Amino acid sequence: MYFYKIQHPNNFTFAKSYVNGNLSFGFTDLAAAVTDHGEDCFHLQLSGDRWSEREGLNVLTPPQHADASVSSVQIDEAGSLQLLNKEGATLLESGPMGSIGIAGSRWLVEFAYDESYCFYGMGEKTGPLEKTGKGTKFWNTDVFADFTWDQCETAQTDPMYVSIPYLIIRTGHGWVGVLVDSPYPSFCSAGGEIGSIANQQSVHSNKRLYLGAEGGLPSLWIITAENLSCLTQRFQRLVGPSPMPPLWALGHHQCRWGYSSADDLRWVKKGLADEGIPNSGLWLDIEYMVDYRVFSWNSDTEGWGDVSAVLDELQQDGQRVVPILDPGVKKDPGYEVYEHGNERDVWCKTEDGVPYVGYVWPGETLFPDYLRNDARAWWASWTQRFAEDGIHGVWCDMNDPSVGPVELSPMCFNHGQQSHEVGHNQYGSQMARATRAGLQAANPDERPFVLSRSGYTGCQQHTALWTGDNFSNWTYLKGAIPCSLNLALSGVPLNGPDVPGFANDADEGLALRWYQAGFLFPFLRNHAMKSRGQEPFTYARPTREAIRHLIRLRYRLLPYLYQLWIAQAEQAEAVMRPLIHDFDDDRLTHIDDQFLIGPALLQAPLVEPGSSKRSVILPDGWWFDLRTGEWMSGGRYDLKLETLAETPLYARSGAVIPMQPNEPTDHHVDLARVDLHCFLRDGESTTVVYYADDGASWDYQQGKRSTWRAHISAQHGGIIIRDIECDNSWRALEVRVVIYGGQQHVNEQPVESFTWRATGRDLTLGLIGLV
Ligand code: NOJ
Repeated sequence: MYFYKIQHPNNFTFAKSYVNGNLSFGFTDLAAAVTDHGEDCFHLQLSGDRWSEREGLNVLTPPQHADASVSSVQIDEAGSLQLLNKEGATLLESGPMGSIGIAGSRWLVEFAYDESYCFYGMGEKTGPLEKTGKGTKFWNTDVFADFTWDQCETAQTDPMYVSIPYLIIRTGHGWVGVLVDSPYPSFCSAGGEIGSIANQQSVHSNKRLYLGAEGGLPSLWIITAENLSCLTQRFQRLVGPSPMPPLWALGHHQCRWGYSSADDLRWVKKGLADEGIPNSGLWLDIEYMVDYRVFSWNSDTEGWGDVSAVLDELQQDGQRVVPILDPGVKKDPGYEVYEHGNERDVWCKTEDGVPYVGYVWPGETLFPDYLRNDARAWWASWTQRFAEDGIHGVWCDMNDPSVGPVELSPMCFNHGQQSHEVGHNQYGSQMARATRAGLQAANPDERPFVLSRSGYTGCQQHTALWTGDNFSNWTYLKGAIPCSLNLALSGVPLNGPDVPGFANDADEGLALRWYQAGFLFPFLRNHAMKSRGQEPFTYARPTREAIRHLIRLRYRLLPYLYQLWIAQAEQAEAVMRPLIHDFDDDRLTHIDDQFLIGPALLQAPLVEPGSSKRSVILPDGWWFDLRTGEWMSGGRYDLKLETLAETPLYARSGAVIPMQPNEPTDHHVDLARVDLHCFLRDGESTTVVYYADDGASWDYQQGKRSTWRAHISAQHGGIIIRDIECDNSWRALEVRVVIYGGQQHVNEQPVESFTWRATGRDLTLGLIGLV
């Protein structure tokens, strides 16, 4: 597989006409149709005997609305695609050679490129947020194994672990999202050009805009919208939202390649508790197993004797132990999992029907064929058995799949009948799907949590993702923001990087900056290679205390974050967002060192080495500076931070942000007790809805959820709250109100004054209890 070469339209034959539902390519005619699914969601499908049925196992859920879309996508008589917005203006038009091209079973769709376009999405990629000029491949890799150390250290690695061939285009007349619905290796050029050197001069092709796949039934989804927020919500509905995570998954997690025994986890737990640092997950990397045999616990050297008793002790206060599982099963006669896998014949095989052998941590390894229902059920049953000892979350690693220094191509699926190319990109998602099923079977009343390295379109239905092996360096710190943002725009909202970087060591300054940037990322896990420990409590006091404050602030904000996940699961709303998501403004298209967490919080961390200065662009409107306690209007500001511990964080005017009432010193969160922090300026009003449930079970789906609703307005230097409605179907809620910016009273009542530090100086606030 060549990572740096992608298909070019020159080698494709383009349709020349479209008559009676057939595209004519000269040498062949192929049936083609565009279906309008409503809500501006369109499906282009070609068919012909060069392709079999759809081979993706991911489930897409297009809108079922009969109401017509306001935009249109059509194939015209010349075989070109026409995308028009609701006013009839052209969103995208046919490329220089046509629109729909084929080369054998490969296919692509090309559009005319325009310099004014901006590009986003593409799943998991390094580099900036805006992707103009990028030509890229979608093929899951094991980055550290497939690229040189130098390429890894400088983040020059593409493709990475996750393949989501989805391109977002901001045109002059609206937004378009285009998804290649093929699990085969696929490719995309977002105004990319190719070049060569001739007579010592570089020669460049024209910039081209196209997407396609190396095989698989040609299937392209096209979504249009007036803004990125609407587009992302529509795309999220198509690929499916993330199911509601358990509350503990949204906390802080501590991991390290090296923890292997219960004593290691006791040490971590104590280290964090002694410092009053909240933490929800204690993670185990590969060393807890017996010779890297999956589903085993090493009781000889690591002391995992009575596993369920030890897990019980470690988890008795609600923290969760999350062990790693790799797909590779040690080829080891006598090892129960291997023998059972043989008996059930679950392995990936070569074309000749013999099990494919790779070489991973345990040596020779076989790989469950997660593309098969029976093999997934087999894996799920082992996961269930494993989890019944007291496991509530699992970390799926090496599922790209990583097979060690052995060629991947002989690994086939479906008893050797489906090529490697069909299953490769889907492998990680299907492993996560089977793992989730096993966890759910072990704990039927609980929301399971799976974290995976690899994924394919729609993987968020089964798993969260972390962005793989990064470095404790400034390049990765800066790059973590656009990488997570684009992954979120591509349908995987629950994601995040290893903080403060996996390989090499994060010194005090770098570790603090990583936490300042990452403390509100959707997923927050401290993980490191077998290098220096990077646990927060191993840093010197000022760093340690600053990191602790940030982690506590995350826990303080968990009621708010939880609302965002409800809105994600139920309305497909985005959680982590680029500014251009909420504010469609030319000045914001390239901003990738600032981001929004939900609609209400804007972060602008420092991500350059040794700097205490940065400029911040605040979108139109008003923002409450949680660092200084001042209201700021939209515009550009040059900041000079006085202390290392400060980080710019802003609340949007009009927002009401639910937070935990007290300074959290451990992981416990009671969603029934909440402070509503009101960021309303005089004259503003809003309707607030706060939801609370047990944060762990599916009971909320049966109505065990409490809701607090009210109309809140700001006037005459105070806050007025009226039309309060409480539904205490889960538990009675205890609500207090916190006011900012010099406001004096709530419903004419005097408030109690208190001070609180968010991310800078102490703020003087007003507080009043309501119910
Ligand atoms: C690769 C993973 O990306 C990393 O996070 C993990 O520590 C190692 N495998 C060892 O399991």
